[in-house]
Amino acid sequence: MEQRILNKVAIVTGAGQGLGKAVALRLAAEGADIVVAEYNPDSAEQAAADIRTLGRRALPYPVDLSDVAQIPPMVDRVVTEFGRIDILINNAGRSQTKPLLDLTAEDWDRVVDTNQRGLFFCLQAVAKQMIAQVPEAVRQSDRAPHSFGKIVNFASISGRSGRPYATHYAAAKAAVISITRSAALALARYNINVNAVAPGVAPTQMWVQIDRERGEIFGSKPGEAFANFVETIPLKRAAAPEDIAAAVAFLCSPDSDYITGQCLNVDGGIEMD
Ligand SMILES: NC(=O)c1ccc[n+]([C@@H]2O[C@H](COP(=O)([O-])OP(=O)(O)OC[C@H]3O[C@@H](n4cnc5c(N)ncnc54)[C@H](O)[C@@H]3O)[C@@H](O)[C@H]2O)c1
Repeated sequence: MEQRILNKVAIVTGAGQGLGKAVALRLAAEGADIVVAEYNPDSAEQAAADIRTLGRRALPYPVDLSDVAQIPPMVDRVVTEFGRIDILINNAGRSQTKPLLDLTAEDWDRVVDTNQRGLFFCLQAVAKQMIAQVPEAVRQSDRAPHSFGKIVNFASISGRSGRPYATHYAAAKAAVISITRSAALALARYNINVNAVAPGVAPTQMWVQIDRERGEIFGSKPGEAFANFVETIPLKRAAAPEDIAAAVAFLCSPDSDYITGQCLNVDGGIEMD
């Protein structure tokens, strides 16, 4: 595979499974060393082992990103271990399917704390490190001459419209799109690219959970909610995790140096704006 990001250092949050793991493996295949910032220590270890089989360095780092106090020590540890951070993939997320009128404050916090709050403070901590890596003379000038970092945030097509059975999740993902735009503007003078992807439907543990929760609400059989959703996709198939990973890898590569503040739908054509 083309080594578009050879020897870059990437933090991928939630890389123990699902889309995050697919992204971590893709970035490693393109030449990056990977920090697996993951809640589950066992899946973090396994993902790191899989990355090493591709010939890259990997650091499993168990962390709960909804506890924002854990984020700066993570950044410090990565810099001690690898010397720098070039790429941040803010992928970790949690979902919940529950009717709007039944949502509790605890439901709200649990979903928003990881998808939105944790994502923002991870972006902020890594952005400070990326700026510190910009040479002083360049920092003092008006514009950095080339990209000094790539940040990709995981939004969702849920953030593009209303979701009466996942209001908190949709709100958090809409916020991710907004955070991406604000950060792109704040970091433009350092030439740090900030973009987002909005996946549609991909068969991960998250969708197993959504399918089960929809079954409890609507009485659908296992797999039925997922199949019904796939029916609505113009390309008539769910995304493979590798489809999402390919889009993210593009947004981490020099091929996307002139793109910032965008949210790319990777959804088989469901959303078009
Ligand atoms: N699968 C889909 O169809 C789909 C669609 C749209 C958006 N997304 C988004 O893509 C991202 C990945 O989703 P997925 O389907 O791979 O989910 P997943 O549930 O399979 O994996 C999420 C990973 O994030 C980790 N994680 C969760 N909370 C964390 C925390 N607080 N700190 C550290 N790690 C944490 C989990 O342990 C898990 O390994 C999420 O942001 C999700 O909202 C997924």
